[in-house]
Amino acid sequence: SMNGYEHYMLKEIHEQPDSLRNAMRGRLNDEDATAVFGGLNLTPQQLRGVERIILTGCGTSWHSALVGEYMIEEFARIPVCVEYASELRYRNPPIENNTLVFGITQSGETADTLAALNETKRKGHRTLALCNVVGSSIAQAADGGIYLHAGPEIGVASTKAYSSQCCVLAMLSLYFGRMRHMSFESGGRIIEELRRLPAAVEQALTCDSEVRRIASKYAEASNVLYLGRRYNFPTALEGALKLKEISYIHAEGYPAAEMKHGPIALVDKHTPSVFIMPRGTTYDKVMSNMEEVKARGGPVIAVASHEEAQIRRIADEVIMIPEVPEFLQPIVSAIPLQLLSYHIAVLRGCDVDKPRNLAKSVTVE
Ligand code: F6R
Repeated sequence: SMNGYEHYMLKEIHEQPDSLRNAMRGRLNDEDATAVFGGLNLTPQQLRGVERIILTGCGTSWHSALVGEYMIEEFARIPVCVEYASELRYRNPPIENNTLVFGITQSGETADTLAALNETKRKGHRTLALCNVVGSSIAQAADGGIYLHAGPEIGVASTKAYSSQCCVLAMLSLYFGRMRHMSFESGGRIIEELRRLPAAVEQALTCDSEVRRIASKYAEASNVLYLGRRYNFPTALEGALKLKEISYIHAEGYPAAEMKHGPIALVDKHTPSVFIMPRGTTYDKVMSNMEEVKARGGPVIAVASHEEAQIRRIADEVIMIPEVPEFLQPIVSAIPLQLLSYHIAVLRGCDVDKPRNLAKSVTVE
């Protein structure tokens, strides 16, 4: 049931503190300062020997793969490739020995992801599923895997599955990191940061009424740009996809610094830009990107973690989210973007849980 929520999507957005707790339950080990997973079906020797990881999936699951790439490379220093499943299966790229292939999927039924895993498995590579639906086709086809335990996701737009995918990928990076060079202290710190995540997401959800107000100002837009860097670049893609699929507004996500190489030509007074800019490594750079957009007359919505006069001066709207370490920002910063697309879609009279032309699991190529 919808538990008093008007749509499944809204219910699932609000479930995220719990679905994240469920993703972590029993998987954080303080004694060894690492993560533990039951179903990888690989020996410690096989895992230690992994020299490359391929992350593959479609749509939102491909976005969490991009987040996973940044996490695994930062914490485990293992080279990662992210591939659209639909491209991987026909592109026939050379894949080195000791490559581990992860299929990321909520439904476990996406035809392209299943085919990409089967094709790499046929070539003799180890395949794992990062999957929500227990016993699904992809869960069965892979050599092993990790379940998200997010509970059923009914709304067609993926929300809680996305945050759980990012969370499991963070634990996976911790796990691979601790197998290699990561110290006990660093592992322990990451565990603590993960444990604080559900509360941070809970706090992020309190932006709901502010986001609804902002949604009513911009619901008539025909184009929206989403901009962010590093860990918030996939968030920009995800925010744009959410808006497109349920409100039918054209939206694009870009790494903020790519703006000046073309997309900035789209900026005018009818085209809002959403800047995802919690404080971090590229904060000042994104601030100047935002200034460039503002100077060209584009309305600006900033998603920020700190009250700051400079942001208030440049941005037309500011949505506050709690401060978390950079690798967890994609999970927290996705919250206002999910809510923004939700409220805009409702205001436009769209069928939020069942958008036109879309199915919950895409079992055709
Ligand atoms: C976006 C969305 C789709 C799915 C994609 C993959 O909100 O729901 O883009 O993410 O079809 O589906 P799964 O994860 O089930 O393989």
